Amino acid sequence: MFKISVGENGEQLFLCAKDEDLLSAARKNAQKIMRGCCSGGCGVCKIKIDEGQFRRDTSSMAVLPAHEREQNYTLACKTFALSDLRITFLK
Ligand code: FES
Repeated sequence: MFKISVGENGEQLFLCAKDEDLLSAARKNAQKIMRGCCSGGCGVCKIKIDEGQFRRDTSSMAVLPAHEREQNYTLACKTFALSDLRITFLK
């Protein structure tokens, strides 16, 4: 399990299993995050990873363009923690 802290001061915290996407883990832990297609196509679950290692599965370049990927924006439904993370919810 990885610890996922939310916000600048990590005021919210939830756990995420190694192979669980961040959107599922967040919703299971009563975090307020928008859920749409759950397949990397709509962009409503976009978050920013502020600290930590993660991997992405395939997702739409239209809703998550290359310049956003470089700045660690990602789609929670297609993102998996590889370490403890600090993230920001955008919506
Ligand atoms: S819910 Fe649609 S991209 Fe994540």
